[in-house]
Amino acid sequence: MATVKIQEILDGCCEGKRVSVRGWVYRKREGKELIFLLLRDSTGVIQCTTKKGSPAWNEAERATIESSIVLEGTAKQDKRAPGGYELSASNIRIIGLAEVFPISKDKSEEFIRDMRHLWLRSRKMNLVMKVRADVLEFAREYLKRQDFIEVSPPMFISAAVEGGSTLFGLKYFDQDLYLTQSSQLYLEILIYSLQNVYCIAPSFRAEKSRTIRHLTEYWHLEGEWPFADMNDLMVFEEGLMTHVCQSATYKCKKQFQELGADISKLAQVKPPFPRITYNEAIEKLKPKNPTLKWGDDLGYEDEKALAEEFNKPFFVYDYPTAIKAFYCKTYPEKPEVAMSVDMMVPRIGEISTGGAREDNKEILTKRIREMGLKEGDYEWYLDLRRYGTVPHVGFGMGVERLLTWMLDLENIIDSIPFPRTTRRFYP
Ligand code: 4AD
Ligand code: MG
Repeated sequence: MATVKIQEILDGCCEGKRVSVRGWVYRKREGKELIFLLLRDSTGVIQCTTKKGSPAWNEAERATIESSIVLEGTAKQDKRAPGGYELSASNIRIIGLAEVFPISKDKSEEFIRDMRHLWLRSRKMNLVMKVRADVLEFAREYLKRQDFIEVSPPMFISAAVEGGSTLFGLKYFDQDLYLTQSSQLYLEILIYSLQNVYCIAPSFRAEKSRTIRHLTEYWHLEGEWPFADMNDLMVFEEGLMTHVCQSATYKCKKQFQELGADISKLAQVKPPFPRITYNEAIEKLKPKNPTLKWGDDLGYEDEKALAEEFNKPFFVYDYPTAIKAFYCKTYPEKPEVAMSVDMMVPRIGEISTGGAREDNKEILTKRIREMGLKEGDYEWYLDLRRYGTVPHVGFGMGVERLLTWMLDLENIIDSIPFPRTTRRFYP
């Protein structure tokens, strides 16, 4: 007898056949003459019925929620069954009898979050994790087609990328080190060897913000390449976003449907994305936020308000230099403006930041000093401007912010299996 995945049965490939499935009891309903077990494996959920008198009856009675079992039965179409197919069980073997499962519908959200190690078995998390894996694959597919090489930067670092206030420090033997906030500076090293490079790696932010879009550890998709300008960067990013969203519309349909996420918004993602300058953003926002003035950073509420107007991904570019990191390239004729660009989406606001990097050693040194950073910490970074400096651009996109938007998740914590926030680091 063939051992099959539940999805194969739901796809109609086993009609009338006796098959064996392996999985966990998802739900159970008991009648006098009939026991219904909903069995789940990684691929799906199927209804299994056991009739009184069947050799499977005793084990069906004994099986508890989340027990692991091997079940043999005959697959048949049944319009009443969820998924349209069911298995009529002829034999059940309990592998691991589960104790009373702590998660049930009446439990609080807080409790479920503490039980993350068990909640990851839920349909919701199963589907989100699958879409997450697909999205990473789509991104890699695009980057590969564009001749980008995946690289592996370090997570232990000795100097800040994005400013000291969000740095996690740690003791590294008897020295003080940090967890990386972004792999950008390391990607910049590698463009001199490999040219077009990217990584998908964790970044860490000691941010006390408790919003639906902040984690303390998140996965960062970052790209960097030479001989390119701001327009090249925006065209590249909209290409990436389009490929990811369009691929999801035809490869992740089932998951979106079961999660109740609106997939139609992804079909509308096509280049060119609207582009507005920071100046235009400020003008647009002034009626809603009268205290906002040139030079202020856009807050979450500002970004959400802007995004409502576009109702699809768009770019805001040319930010004030003063609110941007030391590495941002500035316009020679207006040094108060930096070549920096954010991609924003509805509800979440910023999902990526990118820009041109300062490639002039003198200007960069001045910026490092102005920002109160230690020049000595960035010696290797300045070397890149000493030996064959080149105009280059790059970006970083938060994988979880992207997923939170794509899947209409209420909170970013559901886009990652083991969320790390100010308050959560268990399990
Ligand atoms: O805007 P950020 O800080 O930019 C950088 O780190 C650049 N060095 C990237 C680069 O050019 N290579 O972070 C980039 C993105 C944000 O747009 C956001 O999507 C995500 O990283 N991000 C966070 N995601 C979740 N939780 C947080 N606390 C995040 N902080 C940033
Ligand atoms: Mg940013």
